[in-house]
Amino acid sequence: MESNTQEEISVEDEAVDKSSFKTCNQIAFYRRQKHLCPGKSLYRALLDTVELSDSSVKFQIINEECKVPLLVEIYEIEGSIFRLKVNEVAPLKPRYQVPDVLIKEPVSLRLTISQKDAGKLVLSCSSEDQQLHITANPFQMQLVSKSEIVLSMNTNGLLYFEHLQHLPQIRESTLQKRADGSADSSEENQEDLGLWEEKFGSFLDIKASGPSSVGLDFSLHGYEHVYGIPQHAETLLLKNTSDNDVYRLYNLDVFGYKIHSKMGIYGSVPLLLAHKPDRTIGVFWLNSSETLVEIATKAAAEADLSRTPELPKQRVLPQTDVRWMSEGGIIDTFILMGPRSFDTFKQYAELTGTQSLPPLFSLGYHQCRWNYEDENDVKEVDAGFDKYSIPYDVIWLDIEHTDGKRYFTWDKKKFCSPVRMQKALMKKKRKLVVIVDPHIKVDPQYAIYTQAEGKGYFVKDRTGKDFKGLCWPGLSSYLDFTNPSVREWYADQFAFKNYKDSSEILFVWNDMNEPSVFRGVELTMQKDAVHHGSWEHREVHNLYGFYQQMASAEGLIRRSGELERPFVLTRSFFAGSQKYGAVWTGDNRADWSYLKISIPMLLTLSMVGISFCGADVGGFIGNPSPELLVRWYQAGALQPFFRGHANMQTKRREPWLFGKENTQIIREAIKERYSLLPKLYTVFYLLPFHRPVWVEFPKELNTFGIEDEYMLGNALLVYPVTEPKATTVDVFLPGSQEIWYDFRRFRRLEGQGTLKIPVTLNSIPVIQRGGTIIPLKTSVGKSTEWMTDVPYELHVALDYKETATGELYLDDGHSFQYLHKKQFLLRKFTFQECVFSSRCADEKGQFHTRCVVEQVLILGMKRQPSSVMARIHDGKDKAVVFTYDAKSSVLTLKKLSLNISIDWEIEIK
Ligand code: GLC
Repeated sequence: MESNTQEEISVEDEAVDKSSFKTCNQIAFYRRQKHLCPGKSLYRALLDTVELSDSSVKFQIINEECKVPLLVEIYEIEGSIFRLKVNEVAPLKPRYQVPDVLIKEPVSLRLTISQKDAGKLVLSCSSEDQQLHITANPFQMQLVSKSEIVLSMNTNGLLYFEHLQHLPQIRESTLQKRADGSADSSEENQEDLGLWEEKFGSFLDIKASGPSSVGLDFSLHGYEHVYGIPQHAETLLLKNTSDNDVYRLYNLDVFGYKIHSKMGIYGSVPLLLAHKPDRTIGVFWLNSSETLVEIATKAAAEADLSRTPELPKQRVLPQTDVRWMSEGGIIDTFILMGPRSFDTFKQYAELTGTQSLPPLFSLGYHQCRWNYEDENDVKEVDAGFDKYSIPYDVIWLDIEHTDGKRYFTWDKKKFCSPVRMQKALMKKKRKLVVIVDPHIKVDPQYAIYTQAEGKGYFVKDRTGKDFKGLCWPGLSSYLDFTNPSVREWYADQFAFKNYKDSSEILFVWNDMNEPSVFRGVELTMQKDAVHHGSWEHREVHNLYGFYQQMASAEGLIRRSGELERPFVLTRSFFAGSQKYGAVWTGDNRADWSYLKISIPMLLTLSMVGISFCGADVGGFIGNPSPELLVRWYQAGALQPFFRGHANMQTKRREPWLFGKENTQIIREAIKERYSLLPKLYTVFYLLPFHRPVWVEFPKELNTFGIEDEYMLGNALLVYPVTEPKATTVDVFLPGSQEIWYDFRRFRRLEGQGTLKIPVTLNSIPVIQRGGTIIPLKTSVGKSTEWMTDVPYELHVALDYKETATGELYLDDGHSFQYLHKKQFLLRKFTFQECVFSSRCADEKGQFHTRCVVEQVLILGMKRQPSSVMARIHDGKDKAVVFTYDAKSSVLTLKKLSLNISIDWEIEIK
């Protein structure tokens, strides 16, 4: 067993050096595309080539300068989505088209031609109020809904398409000279355009297909609020970009990434959302190569409508121009037409899938550290949670648990009996997560290596040899997860017979999967490395982590005989990763600013479908002050994925190490999460888990930029405290007719708009919206599994009409029976005219449970009832014990014992 930890740390620290990463001007395809300035497009549509079929409309466009024709395909997809594809009519070789991200081939509807002449084509959609207007010269497209232009493409003339070419003779000789070291400086200067090769520092990228970048501009009419395109440590609202400072989508391992930066970090989702009071739309740019996005928002007064003369002159709308640029692939873009934000979320989910329903345990608290040293350490930390009465579900093992960073193995000195360790955890109804990275130590003694090497399962370098780079184990090769056979084989490695000493309570953490290559170009793999199907790495880069998580999740499902839901956390991700598990925001710092930025970062992930996301609680790098740690626990407890994690140089920080008082506050924060589990699980079923305030209040302009508070489901407004020594916070309560209640003290909050709320270290503001009902558990256990039969308590917060509704989703919490056998319950609670009822909200589901509702709290109840009766469907009436507190207007119904799965009513007289 070797340990080269010190060396590894210093290698990792290099990553903090920003010169390791490119600025936009150091990206050749960006420089090339920037030569094209806004103006009249070079492209003209050849409308005499129009072909209409049942599923699409196709025609050619031609570049007036180079005369290369491109094929445009337009689809209307069921559910108010449009797809535009642009590819070469006859490329020299196929161009990469992203596979596996769309969950199925979208169902297209028939478009009809309503107008066609040499200059214009008008397509009408199945829903009559939407049309596509195509102008021939210059080629432009407009999406019109109810005679209003929602979005137009190529209005700024930035459609850009580098067609594939043969390597010019002159280039060939330069390349030869370069190879033998005789190239002169004039030849070097030509490299400025980076057509066939591109230098960055000492790295040379040789492009097998030459320049192949694509780009297009979109104008979003009436929109000045845009969101999405993670992952950046940036604000919720996307900012205007400037030259050399554009949003980059390129998955990179950036240790301690800088805040308020548009540089790409671990994952990418090329989905941009735009919102105005009456509509939310989305632009999904399906391209997995390096992508850059420019944003230019013009406020209402400055809008330049010269290029859209169709708009009535008196309406000067705001507008956002978005320019997408990608290094390779084709143009394949989807316009999601909304109109409501939830419609847009659904449209995107129809294309890329919904968040997989997490096993219930994974909604509990996760305790991680690089590293829990050995079996005894695990045992003591586990016992600590019991000693200090803090619930938790999962303990994690980082890279040091392996035999020399050989994944799927154990360091047998430190973990001499992993089975015994897992059995002990199992007995406590807790789980284990272990790290499984994608790099494989080059070691002929290591079975995973020799098998993969023998089968040719590694990514190759441009000469055809296995790509080799440095990572935690030293010299490593990288599994080619883009190859379906590799994924199959990899999934099999999780089988109990292959993964020695693993058990059904062991789940998985995929890290370093951008992929991270120490001392590699920008700490990742060279773009000229070669994958399955001879595709260069540049084409698939942003998909690498997506595919690893896909294979891991598949492995865990298979291991269970297709019965159990998997849990896999990944650092790198792409559009669609939500199908395979959870995502976290990587190596953040123990600093208040990172706690603060985690809120918009996670909301952005949630908006683009990745609902199950979290940030390392406490901050990965450095030592948090006790106050910061406490605040982070309070924030994390109400964010989707809740894991404490710390770098190996940090001091130990289990929740009980910061004095009695802080332990107590952290305990309360974690316990509150556990008592809220029924609500959390329900919002995971209904999605999205947490959302920006504007999503719930789409017409309220002053919510559009809010990023310091958010809604958990539709019922709770959460305001994490992110400033040291805070004594008050400014919470914005939206809605002129809304009533808001303190979630913990049940009293109604007086006032509207921005409220100065006093805070102590004990808690952060959580506010329940009037009109909602929240299911909770009456007590918490050692872990989620201990709580199965704990009774429910319902918090009914009345709105100004004295009504409220809410849901509860319930199933066995771990298997796929909810899907395959419809073993679930979806209950709907309603309070109206002083009758509280529980009804089935989905007749398809059935689930047996002994669990009862024990207590109901009605907040905002204006009078003391004379009597309260409970009526079970087809049963007898029963008087209900109650108390009424006139001061707080809370009516408490007690000792109800009403089964959660059946219909009943409670009448308040
Ligand atoms: C990376 C991960 C971090 C992990 C470490 C060691 O830095 O982001 O979470 O602890 O690698 O595996």
